[in-house]
Amino acid sequence: MTLPIAVLVSGRGSNLGALMDARATGTLPVEIVLVASDKADAPALRNAEAHGIPTLALDPKGYPNRLAFDEALFARVAESGAELVVLAGFMRVIDGAVVDAWRGRIINIHPSLLPKYRGLHTHRRAIAARDAEHGASVHFVTAELDGGPVIAQAHIPVHAGDDEEMLAARLLGREHRLIVACVDAIARGHAALRDGVVHWNDAPVTQPLRLSAEGNLQSA
Ligand code: GRF
Repeated sequence: MTLPIAVLVSGRGSNLGALMDARATGTLPVEIVLVASDKADAPALRNAEAHGIPTLALDPKGYPNRLAFDEALFARVAESGAELVVLAGFMRVIDGAVVDAWRGRIINIHPSLLPKYRGLHTHRRAIAARDAEHGASVHFVTAELDGGPVIAQAHIPVHAGDDEEMLAARLLGREHRLIVACVDAIARGHAALRDGVVHWNDAPVTQPLRLSAEGNLQSA
């Protein structure tokens, strides 16, 4: 069984790269049927093209409002045959009506231990708060920004002397393992959203799963 997925990106696309690499080694049972962006110059699009993956750039300026853009974008996503949408550095809030139509079928990777630090500048905020620990979360997307049910998290220590860039760089490698593990779990039917609650092997999850050092998801 291979799950068709679409990946939405706005920039660099290193998380997309991790998914493409895992796919290429045959370990991740997905087909990336579309990589779409709101930025025509996103490096992620060039990388996808180089891998022969269909791409789409849609400019929000060509639409009268957010809903019109999101409806157009997700119409193209639906046409691609994708059954799961992965937001990997997609820097836009998606209209609630569109999100609701895809409930349980859109996930996002966010660079904080949600519910801490929704929104931007997460690394800076973790350092300013003197957090001992930082991390990343993959969650199902709801209309609430970075507020949907969390599937799993990767944790890293914050070291004395870390600045924003150092922390972001240290986290990124773990993000890549986390997004691959979560997409893998959904593709294999281990993780799903049911009645608004994350389920892991058919049992409701009360605490986000945790990414192990080896890159596996474990109960917290
Ligand atoms: C990642 O830090 C991700 O958590 C956040 O945006 C960044 C995207 O990086 N949502 P990349 O484009 O995947 O390299």
